[in-house]
Amino acid sequence: MKFLVTGGCGFVGVNLSHYLVQAGHSVRVLDNMRLGSPDHLEGLEVELIEGDIRDVPTVERAVDGVDAVVHLAADTRVIPSIEDPKFNFDNNVIGTFNLIEAMRAAGIKRMVNASTGGAILGDVTPPVHEGMVPEPISPYGASKLACEGYLSAYAGSYGMQAASLRFTNVYGPRSFHKGSVVAHFIKQILAGKELVVYGDGSQARDYIYVDDLCQGILACIDRGAAGVIQLGTGIPTPLNDLIAVLRDVAGQDGISFDVRYEDWRPGEIRHTYGLIDKAREVLEFDPRVKLEDGIRTTWEWFRKQG
Ligand SMILES: NC(=O)c1ccc[n+]([C@@H]2O[C@H](COP(=O)([O-])OP(=O)(O)OC[C@H]3O[C@@H](n4cnc5c(N)ncnc54)[C@H](O)[C@@H]3O)[C@@H](O)[C@H]2O)c1
Repeated sequence: MKFLVTGGCGFVGVNLSHYLVQAGHSVRVLDNMRLGSPDHLEGLEVELIEGDIRDVPTVERAVDGVDAVVHLAADTRVIPSIEDPKFNFDNNVIGTFNLIEAMRAAGIKRMVNASTGGAILGDVTPPVHEGMVPEPISPYGASKLACEGYLSAYAGSYGMQAASLRFTNVYGPRSFHKGSVVAHFIKQILAGKELVVYGDGSQARDYIYVDDLCQGILACIDRGAAGVIQLGTGIPTPLNDLIAVLRDVAGQDGISFDVRYEDWRPGEIRHTYGLIDKAREVLEFDPRVKLEDGIRTTWEWFRKQG
């Protein structure tokens, strides 16, 4: 199949592009390079369009001749979305609208849209699942919810096989530019700095390795699934457990680090993880990479970057 991957120069995008090419598919990437970089696509046979999803002619060119679209392009930063909600709306909502309009005109039906459980649902009692009432607490979360709404409407009105996959915390190689906890902690450790934990380290998250996520995305396209589906591991990992794994992995390379505990940050969600029953049923989704193995691979990738 020929795929368009929007945001294909970002963290998930470069990993997905590698994954799709290895699975024998052809890939076109559309990215404006605002957050991502083409560096990690080097040597991979993909077609790269440097352009913006807010630009209609560019989007029309990008969808031309593809069989399916994986839509990852977004301004993914929560705090900047609070500082400048209009930019986030234009980028995420108008951009997505342009994309599905171009797909409708070109008769392209299959689409996976990257969404998020955490930012859409707010502070709810875990596990998070598709049946919960969305109450986003940031413009970023609201933008993702709006996109889910448009995809649902395009499925209902135009027969699009459009699914919104709600990712939990994704980690893995090629995440150098990310501020998410695994990437941030590894960069701190390699820079010889201490880790700062806000709270007592009991806060739990659902960490999914990026290859497992790619497996879910491809299964979704293969099966023409539609609607909202939660992806994750279904396993809550306390921050202290993640730190213990990092200590073990870094220790094998003779590297140690300190951890400093600070007061809880106001508004921080204490525990969250996904319920992935629907993904297991609809996609036969089966995340296999153990945290220890995924962290080791990620650590080794960062080490190689120097
Ligand atoms: N990484 C996670 O843990 C996580 C969790 C939940 C949801 N998501 C969603 O998954 C998707 C991919 O996330 P990621 O971690 O790879 O983020 P990322 O920031 O690394 O990648 C996003 C990419 O989109 C590009 N982009 C942004 N605006 C664009 C525009 N207007 N036109 C063209 N390209 C544009 C950026 O340059 C970047 O390369 C995003 O939609 C994000 O909201 C990610």
